[in-house]
Order: sequence, then C-alpha cells, then structure tokens
Amino acid sequence: MFGQVELLPADPILGLIEAFNQDTNPLKIDLGVGVYKDALGNTPILKSVREAEALLLTRETTKKYIGSHGDPLFAKHILPLVFGEASSVLAEQRATLTQAPGGTGALRLAADFLRRNAPEKTVWISNPTWPNHYAIFDSVGIKHANYAYVDSETNRLDFPAMLADLKQIPQGDVVLLHACCHNPTGFDLSTAQWQEVLAILQERELLPLIDFAYQGFGEGLDKDAAAVRLLSEQLPEVMITASCSKNFGLYRERIGSFIGVAKNTDDMEKLRSQMASVARANYSNPPAHGSAIVGTILASTELNTLWRSEVDDMRNRINTLRQQFVTALTPYGLAEKFACVAEQQGMFSYSGLKPHEVAQLQKEFGIYMVKTGRMNIAGYNEQNLPYLCQAIASVCGKK
Ligand code: LMR
Repeated sequence: MFGQVELLPADPILGLIEAFNQDTNPLKIDLGVGVYKDALGNTPILKSVREAEALLLTRETTKKYIGSHGDPLFAKHILPLVFGEASSVLAEQRATLTQAPGGTGALRLAADFLRRNAPEKTVWISNPTWPNHYAIFDSVGIKHANYAYVDSETNRLDFPAMLADLKQIPQGDVVLLHACCHNPTGFDLSTAQWQEVLAILQERELLPLIDFAYQGFGEGLDKDAAAVRLLSEQLPEVMITASCSKNFGLYRERIGSFIGVAKNTDDMEKLRSQMASVARANYSNPPAHGSAIVGTILASTELNTLWRSEVDDMRNRINTLRQQFVTALTPYGLAEKFACVAEQQGMFSYSGLKPHEVAQLQKEFGIYMVKTGRMNIAGYNEQNLPYLCQAIASVCGKK
C-alpha cells in the first residue's frame, strides 16, 4: 500500500527548517518558521518559563491525566488574559476554554466541531493566510473560500475589497479572522475598521473564528486583544483559537486553547460538551507540561510581571528590527519599496518579494523565507542585517 501513495512536497513553512539545516553556507539566515530569535540568533527559554519549570519540579506530584478540557488553573488565567479582567462575557459565564495542543490543535478542534455540527457551512479565509488554515479545514472536509485582504499590486491592506467580499458571504457562514499580527502579511485592521467588520458580522449573522496566535507581539497584551474583546462583547457567538507558542516561547510544548463564547450559559455548556468529545476523539487529553508552566506564571504576581516584561522586550526588539531593515535598505534606493515592513505588526512581514526573488535569495545567498515573500522579522539580527540587505538589493537588481 505504501508504494501506491503519492510522495508529497515538504510543508511550505516547516519544510524550510530542514532545508536550512542542510545548507552549508556559513552566512545563511533563516527567515522561515515563526520563532522569535534574540540578538545572537538564539530562541532562548524565557526566564519566567525557566523559573516556573524549576517550581514545577518541586511541586509536581503526579503525571495522571488532566482531563479533556485541560488544566483548570491554565483556563482560569488565560480567560482574563484574552477577554480582560472586567469582561462581561466572563461575568455572564458565556465563555468556555478547552486546552489544546497549540494554536493548530485548537483550530483542529474548531474544524472538527464545525464538521460535526454545521458541515454545510463554508469557512471564509483571508487571501493570503497561514497555509495551514487550508490544510486543517481540508483534513476534516469543511469547505473554504477566500475574502480579499491584500492588494497584490501595491502590497498593502485592501480594506474596501475585504469589506466588499465580507458583504457577499452567505448568512450564517464562518469567517476566519486574525486578531492581530496577521500571518503572513503583518497588516492589521484599525479599531475603526474592526467596527465596520463587526457591523457586517452582525448584519449577516456570520460566526467569527478568531485566530489569536500572537497576543503581545503587535502593540501589547491588552491592545492586541481589542478585536477579540469587541467581537465577544457584541456578538452572541464567537470562536477563538489562542496560542502560547509565541508569547511564552513554548513552541514545542504545544500549548494553546479553543475558547467559545455562547449566547448564554446553557449554550456554553452544550458547546463545552462538544469540545470534550472532539478532543477525546483526537488525542484524548492534552499534554500537561505547557499548561502547567503557563498557569504557574500567570498565577504568580512576580512571574507574571517578569513574563510581561519579556513579552514587551520581544515585541520592542522586533519593531526595532523593522525600522533598521528599512534604514539599511535606504542606500540601495529600496526604502520606499520596503516601507511597509516598518508599518506592519507582529512577527511577519509580507515583503513583496516575488517567488523567483525568494528562490534566488535561497539559492545564491542561503536566505530562507516562505515562497510568498513572508519574512520572519525576528529571524535576522544586527550582525547579519547588512548581508541580508545586500542580498535583497542584488535580487531586486539594485546592486
Ligand atoms: C508560522 O507561521 O511560521 C508558525 O505559526 C509556525 C507554523 O506552525 O507554521
């Protein structure tokens, strides 16, 4: 049987990890998968995480199952982080959280839930988006279609086109929105633009599925949650998939959550029972280590403060790197072409580099990024920035 199956190409993002590792170019730079890197090019374990892990070693007494919804301490602290301490959604007991193996696992829970309960619905996804969105909905057999997001000519957010498409979505369908730090583009909506999106969601009774993987990387932990909070307060039903991969640097621990907001507590309990069943059929119980770390950090005033400052440091460093990139391209006459990099938010930038330019960067310079021109801004540093800009200038015909 195995001889009959198709040989598949590598994943457009994860496949770059292996290709990069095999490259022998000493100057190589990895701008592929979305992991934060410090000035030395390392992805360190956060200090708050190390301290929490040390505490866990002394406190942990068992390795028994943690249950379908995961660790209650984790849920208790993630919900106010997402909705805000004073959230009416929490006060009214309309929200439920099911711990999941990363943001991807949470999306899979959402997809499975939709497949079981609303198989006729289409999920509307921004064009472009994180490629795994398509793979997840394809895996469960849920239909998907696109709404416009970026103007491919100008490489800027095309909000009028986005609105026009959202207005055409059949009533009751699902709309996948990126809460902040849009992956792959880095173009986010303003508060006023979110209000316009909200009005369409209300009018057409659309169900938002909000991918919230980068809380803290855009403008700050609270500001980045503004859209999630607005939609959850104003709409009867919302689905959110949150991740601790980036903001806690816990990528390989696979820790995220599916959060559902229902009209009332009764509906919330129904949704919660569905999520337990979906989780059970996928992996039974979620892994415990990541949630124990996050719960320990958020429950401790001291570790919480330390963690918040570490998130601020990561965000500020990325923003500095964005500015430095545009400055370093100025001598090549490319500052205007790449000005968007300083305007975008989060870990990624849709650079506007074309697939053939990306291929040339990889082949000739050992610079790896996603074929669509998505760069991980945290992937370069002050030392290799001149080399990166020289290479970009070269493929853009400016040198
Ligand atoms: C990315 O977009 O690079 C990250 O979210 C990692 C992944 O799973 O693709």
